[in-house]
Amino acid sequence: MNYPYQLTSYEAYKAAYQKSIAEPEVFWGEVAAHFTWQKKWDSVLSWNFQDPKVQWFAGAQLNITENCIDRHLATRANQAAIVWESNHPNEDSRTLTYLELYHQVQQFANVLLNNGVQKGDRVCIYMGMIPELAIATLACARIGAIHSVIFGGFSAQAIADRLADAGAKYIITCDGAYRGAKDIPLKEVIDEALVANQTVQRVIVYMRTKTTITMMPQRDVWWEEEIQKVQDMGNPPVEPAAMDAEDILFILYTSGSTGKPKGVVHTTAGYMVWTNYTFVNVFQYQPGQIHFCTADIGWITGHSYIIYGPLSAGATTLMFEGIPTWPNAGRFWEIVEKYKVDILYTAPTAIRSLMGCGLEPIQGKDLSSLKVLGSVGEPINEEAWHWYHEYIGQKRCPIVDTWWQTETGGVMISNLAGITPEKPSYATFPLPGVQPCLVDESGLEIEGNGVNGNLCIKFPWPGMIRTTYNDHERCRQTYFSTYPNLYFTGDGCLRDENGMYRITGRVDDVLNVSGHRIGTAEVENAINSHQGVIESAVVGYPHDLKGQGIFAYVILANSAFNEEESKKEITQTVAKLIGPIAKPDQILFVPGLPKTRSGKIMRRILRKIAEGDTGNLGDISTLLDPSLVNLIIKEKKR
Ligand code: WT7
Repeated sequence: MNYPYQLTSYEAYKAAYQKSIAEPEVFWGEVAAHFTWQKKWDSVLSWNFQDPKVQWFAGAQLNITENCIDRHLATRANQAAIVWESNHPNEDSRTLTYLELYHQVQQFANVLLNNGVQKGDRVCIYMGMIPELAIATLACARIGAIHSVIFGGFSAQAIADRLADAGAKYIITCDGAYRGAKDIPLKEVIDEALVANQTVQRVIVYMRTKTTITMMPQRDVWWEEEIQKVQDMGNPPVEPAAMDAEDILFILYTSGSTGKPKGVVHTTAGYMVWTNYTFVNVFQYQPGQIHFCTADIGWITGHSYIIYGPLSAGATTLMFEGIPTWPNAGRFWEIVEKYKVDILYTAPTAIRSLMGCGLEPIQGKDLSSLKVLGSVGEPINEEAWHWYHEYIGQKRCPIVDTWWQTETGGVMISNLAGITPEKPSYATFPLPGVQPCLVDESGLEIEGNGVNGNLCIKFPWPGMIRTTYNDHERCRQTYFSTYPNLYFTGDGCLRDENGMYRITGRVDDVLNVSGHRIGTAEVENAINSHQGVIESAVVGYPHDLKGQGIFAYVILANSAFNEEESKKEITQTVAKLIGPIAKPDQILFVPGLPKTRSGKIMRRILRKIAEGDTGNLGDISTLLDPSLVNLIIKEKKR
C-alpha cells in the first residue's frame, strides 16, 4: 500500500480514532515516521491551552519542500505534479512534472536568495492562479522564508494593512490576473498599497496579462529577468533549508470579530503531517489520480489542498485560473472531462450557482472519471447536496462534507470518502486526533446525543494555529479564553442521535459570504469612513446563492444626501477599502440603531429584521429607545 496510514474501512477508522485519543503521541509518531526528516523529533507533543503553547515534533528538523518534491523524484519524476488550466479555454494548458517542479522551485529559490531574501523574512504573494504562484510559495518554503499569500480580490488598503502587520520585505506579484471576463490590475493595486509602506524593499513581477504597468527603479524587478540572472550564474542547486518543526511556514490573514484581520500562523512539521494525513484519508486519494480543488490559493483551502496536502502525498494537483461560470457554466465539467478528474473539491456557493444554470451545461460532458466529490466553506444545504450527488456524482460518488477553518490548517470533521457513513448536510464524524465537544453559554460541556451547542476542541491536533502573528494575546483571547482549556471555533453545532456533527454556522460576528470569511466590524469600519455616514451596523442574512448576504443599516449625517447616490458611494468605499467580496448586498438608511442602555447594538434584532422575520423579535424592552424598531421596520418595507 502506498499510504500505510490510509484508513480503508469503517473499522479501521474507529480503531485509529480510539488510538489517537488513547495514545496521541504514539499515534502521531507512527504517522510522522512516513515523512522525510533531516533530524528526528525529541518529543511528539507538548502543550497547554492557557498561554496557549502547542508544540508538535519539537526538536525535529525538516523542510516541507523536500517532502513535497524531492522525496518523490525516485518514483515519480515524470509524473505530473501540477496540471494547470488557463482562464481561457483555448490557451494551452501546462503541466509540471515533479522533476520540472523541482527545477523551477530551486530556480526561483535562487532568485529569492539573489534578491536578499533570508530565512524568516516575510514574503507577500499577490498573484493570480498560475503555476508561478505555487512555485513562488514553495520557493519561499525551500529557503525558510515565511509566505503570506493574499487573495487577488483584496484591495490596496487591505493589502497595505497586511503588509504592515507582517512587516513584509518582499512582494511577488503579476502585472495582472485573468478571472473570467475580467483583467485584474494586480501590480497597480500593489503600487497603491505601497504608497505609505515602510517595509517592502523589492517587488518581483511576473508577466501574465501584458498590461501596461510602471516599474519603480530599484524597487521593482521582472521575474523573467531575475531568472535569467540566476541562470547566468549557473543556477546552483538550493538545498532544502533545515527548519525547526515549529518554525513558521506561513501567515494567512483572516477576518475575526474586530475590524483588524489577524495573521493566522502555521508552523512546519505539524501542518505538513496534518494536511497530508487529512488529504489521503478524507479524499481516499489513490496514486495516479487527478485531484481538482477549485479554491484559490489565497485561501487556506488552496494552501492545504492544492499545494501542501496533495504534493506531500505525491499526487497530481489541478490548478484552475478561472471561474466556474466563464465563458459559460459548463467550465468545470469541461475540465473534469478534459483531464479525467478523479476528485472534485469545491464550495456550496459554486454548486448553488451552477445548479441555478440548469442541466444544459452538464449535458454531453463525460463525468465518468469522477470518484469522489467534496464540499467546503459553509454548510451545504440539502438541495445543493442532492443536486451535486445526482447530476455531478451521478449517484456513484461519495460526497465528503469537510468542516474546518483557516485556524485548523486542515479538515477536522468529515466523512472519509466511501469509508465512513455520509449524511446530507452533516460533516459527520471527527478525524482521528480531533476531540470535539459542545458547550453551552456558560462553558459547561453538553454530553450525550441529540444536542446543540457551541463547537469547541479539547485537545491539540498537529495542524492547529500556533499564534496570531505579532499578537499572541489576540490568539489567546479569540480562541482560548471564551471557554477555559478549550479551543473555541466560533461555530454553532448539532450532534444527532448517532453522534454525527452538523455545523449550523457562526455564532460570532463573522459572516460567511460565498464561503469567504468577512468580519462585520471590518465592513462597518469601511462604511463609516464614508463622510456622509454617522454610524452603521452590519449583519448577515440568508442568501440563496451566497449562503449569507451582507445587510448594512446606515445612519446618514444629513437627510439631504441623495439615497441612491449614497448607496453607490458606500458600496464603492467598501470595495476600495476591503475588496469587492465585502460589498453589502443591501443598504438600509435608518434614523438610529437599536441599542441597549449600555450602548451595545442589539444585532439579534437587526438580524431578524434583515431576514424579514419581524413577527417574533423577542424582548425589546431593554432597548434605550424601543420605538426605533418600528421605524426601522417601516423603512425596510418602504
Ligand atoms: C468557517 C471557516 C475551511 C476552509 C474554507 C473556510 C465555515 C467551513 C464548513 C462545512 C459548515 C463550514 C465555518 C467555519 N465552514 N467548512 N463543511 N460546513 N460550515 O475557511 O474562511 O477559515 O472559514 O467556514 O463557519 O468556522 P475559513
